[in-house]
Parts: sequence; C-alpha cells; structure tokens
Amino acid sequence: MKINHASNGLHGELTVPGDKSISHRAVMFGSIASGDTVIRGFLKSADCISTMNCFRAMGIEIEEGRDEKGGFIRVFGKGLRGLNKPYKPLDCGNSGTTTRLISGILAGQGFETRLTGDASLSRRPMRRIIEPLKAIGASIRSENKDGLLPLIIDRGELHGGEIRTRVASAQVKSAILLSGLYADKETVVIEPALSRNHTELMLSAFGADITGGSEADPRASVRPCSELRGLEVNVPGDISSAAYFIGAALIVPDSEVVLKNVGINPTRDGVIRVFREMGADIRIENEHYESGERSADLIVKHSPSLKGVEIEGDIIPALIDELPLIAVVAAAAEGETVIRDAAELKVKESNRISLTVNNLRAMGADAEEREDGMVIRGGRPLHRASIETAFDHRIAMSFSVAALINSDVRPVEIRDPSCVGISFPDFFKDMDMLLK
Ligand code: S3P
Repeated sequence: MKINHASNGLHGELTVPGDKSISHRAVMFGSIASGDTVIRGFLKSADCISTMNCFRAMGIEIEEGRDEKGGFIRVFGKGLRGLNKPYKPLDCGNSGTTTRLISGILAGQGFETRLTGDASLSRRPMRRIIEPLKAIGASIRSENKDGLLPLIIDRGELHGGEIRTRVASAQVKSAILLSGLYADKETVVIEPALSRNHTELMLSAFGADITGGSEADPRASVRPCSELRGLEVNVPGDISSAAYFIGAALIVPDSEVVLKNVGINPTRDGVIRVFREMGADIRIENEHYESGERSADLIVKHSPSLKGVEIEGDIIPALIDELPLIAVVAAAAEGETVIRDAAELKVKESNRISLTVNNLRAMGADAEEREDGMVIRGGRPLHRASIETAFDHRIAMSFSVAALINSDVRPVEIRDPSCVGISFPDFFKDMDMLLK
C-alpha cells in the first residue's frame, strides 16, 4: 500500500469501529452466561472473529441480525459450565486477548483443550498466565514446556487465593478473575499498576460479585459465581482505533475531525492525556456512559506547536497500544520525548520498540531504542521509506499516519497492509474519507 503525503487536512465526522477489548469480552461472557446476550457495535475484526470461532467450536450459537437500532450479534449463552469439548484445538489466530482470557474460562471447564495460534502469537509469553492460574489450582501447561503456545488446559481444582502479578496486564488479570468465577473461594488480583478494567465492569453487569479495578480500589476481587445473566451490551468506539485519526489530525495542517462515541474509560485514555500535555487541541463533548463505559465525542484540531514529553510510570498501561502512534506524533513535535517503563512493547504482536524506532529512522527521524522504551527527538522532516510492519496492525496504522507528513513527493510504502484487519478492517477507507 502506497500512502501519499496529505495535501489537505483531515475533515469530517467519523464513528470509529467498536472497542476490541470490550467486543472480545462481550462474546466470551455472553457464551458463559445464561440466556441471550445482544451485542451492538461489535467489532467484526480478525481478532474478535477468532474469539467467536473458539466459542462456536465449543457449541455456542452466535447469530448476526439487524433491527431498527442497527446491526447486532446475538450470543446464545449456555451457562458457566455449558461449553462442549471442541473436536479440534482452538485456534486463537493472532489474538493475545482471546488466548489469555479464554484460558481463564477453560480452566473452569471439565474437559481438556489445546490452544494454538499464528506465528506471532506462538512467540508471545504465556508463563504470565500459566503461573498465576496454576497458583489458584488450574491445570494448564505449555505443550513444549517453553512457556509458549500450544497450551493444554484441563479440569483443575480451583481454590482461589491472592495473586500479585508481575506485569500490569489486563489479559493476565482477566484470566485470573475468570477462573475465579469457578473457584470455591474468593480470588484477588493485585497488579503493579492498574490495567484496563473492562472485565471488572462487564462481569459486574453480567451479575458477578466483583469489586475493585478502579483508581480508588485497584485490587480486583471476584467471588465464586453460580450464574451470569445475559444482557444487552453497547460497545463504544475503540479509543485505540480513534487514536490514529487523533494523531493524524494533530500533525496534518488544516485538520479538524469529530470522532463520535469513543470509549474514554480512564484506564484507556492515556493517549488523550499525553497529547494534551504535548499541547494538542482535543475537546471532549457529550460525555455519557455506554454499558458502564465512559464515552464521548472528540473534536481534534491541527496543533502546530506540539512539544516533547516524558511518558512513564502508571500511565503506561492506559496507552500501551498507542505508543507506536505517540512516537510518530513525537517525531513531528518539537523537542525530546522519552518513553520509559514500556518493556511490554517488546512482547506485543511484534517487538514494537525496535520496529517503531527502525521505521522512524528509515523516515529520517531521530529515534533511539532503550531497554524499556525509546527516545525521540522531534522536528526533523520525515521522508519516504518502505515500512516494515512484521504484520503488526498497530505499526501499519501508526506509519500510515506518519506517511501523511512525509515531505517527499514519492509515497511511503506500508508492507503487508492487510494486517490492519486484525483490529480495524476499514482503516484505509476511513482515512481516505477524512482526507477527501
Ligand atoms: C488487552 C490488553 C492489553 C492490550 C491488548 C488488549 C485486553 O494487553 O495491549 O491489545 O483486551 O485485555 P496487556 O494488558 O496484556 O498489556
């Protein structure tokens, strides 16, 4: 895919697709609830389809429909213990969220399952769920004892307990909490920093006895559960998808965009906080709640005097997926941006520290890799390059934004652009629409 420098700004109004984290959870919790769950605003991307296929393979019926309010999917829940043993290994595709959350649910079932994934997922660390799940009584192991996929999960004796996790990861926290539904005592998760709390919010709406997962009470705790009840979930727009258009509007002269109904849960809104600290003109309007999740419209204008900032500490989990994009925006800002405490970036769909820094350098930026982050000295003009994405959707979208301020007449090339389908299948179409 070749992307030309933007000759006009981005303009217009856009409703970004549904939140990926919330869409995964709605299908999972709907599957183990009693009764139907109707999901509106569901993100139909490759990752969420991996989750749907896993539950379909365990006997859950999921249908798509449309009514006066728009499209929806309906999940016919079979209760906490209603899943069937799948005939084949469950293929989690490229999705870490599918793998790690489903492991927590499978630990509570009465049958053995094998989990597999694509080449990228098969390199991602799974000890982070194997160890805590074992500590609360689960039977889970990595088939080759290397802490990687395939995983084998069997019936265990879940007894709950208190787990202190080593990394702030909502995937790890959620796996433990989901197992906790099936335990015979309370299960508590204490994280080094608060990660996204969609599991806590949504499980509570489904009727689980769950507390914590907020700034005020970060320790998440769930009690044994006899039944979750299906409900209607309205998925807000994904701030991680909106972020690309926020970033693009900030750095492309003459831009003004309105992004409708974006989820701004405080455990996810770090990108807005950081951009504002850099001097971004972002207005938040029409704040409201969608299924317990804070949402709003964002009005973003070109911001010519962005400044470098330091990004570190507890804010990192609230913007972890946006760091490659933030690095691109930092390259267009004046001064130095330092990103620390973000070693987790190395174990995402790709090593996002190396790939981001290498691609920024290929475009002429002054960027340096660090063990737990990167340093970007902004202000150099960016030029064309061929962008290595390693099939990582967030790298492809971040550098599509960088391409808009490429000072060359020749376009930037994004390799393997179809990877955007992991989280945002219409990304290029929506970007074209705002550029018209
Ligand atoms: C996710 C949590 C994050 C994030 C991922 C989605 C989730 O991972 O990077 O894209 O839905 O729970 P970690 O919490 O493991 O960092």
